[in-house]
Amino acid sequence: MERTLSLIKPDGVKKHVIGEVIRRFEKDGIKIVAMKMIHLTKKQAQGFYAVHKERPFFNSLTDFMTSGPIVAMILEGDGVIERNRKLMGATNFKEAEEGTIRKDFATDIEQNVVHGSDAPETAAFEINYFFNSFEIPG
Ligand code: CMP
Repeated sequence: MERTLSLIKPDGVKKHVIGEVIRRFEKDGIKIVAMKMIHLTKKQAQGFYAVHKERPFFNSLTDFMTSGPIVAMILEGDGVIERNRKLMGATNFKEAEEGTIRKDFATDIEQNVVHGSDAPETAAFEINYFFNSFEIPG
């Protein structure tokens, strides 16, 4: 059984699609095993996206990620990393497949509604970045 980190970004919260995103996960048979709403500080956003720190969009991305509350979730299921990425669609909503979260709700390459871990190693790092040992089910 695999786990991954999912974030509903500030634009997703502002667009009132928290319920719709969760509905799509649950409809796909994905289990939500932890969840919370938080408002990141700039430092916390920079730490989360540290792998992108040399990218030209790093400052804008971390500003955006601190512009409002986000919803962080741990998703669980067989092959959930890939399944979540399929439900989200491509990073750039213009390239996302029909029926994906980003195709349906994103308006911008940066403001793309959701984030999902891309591999088991990043999932482990990202889950531990957002949740402490008491919040992560055994
Ligand atoms: P995410 O899947 O959270 O991973 C990194 C984020 O950086 C990405 O979603 C987008 O929000 C943002 N991003 C990626 N590429 C670009 C880009 N070319 N310009 C602006 N933001 C980007």
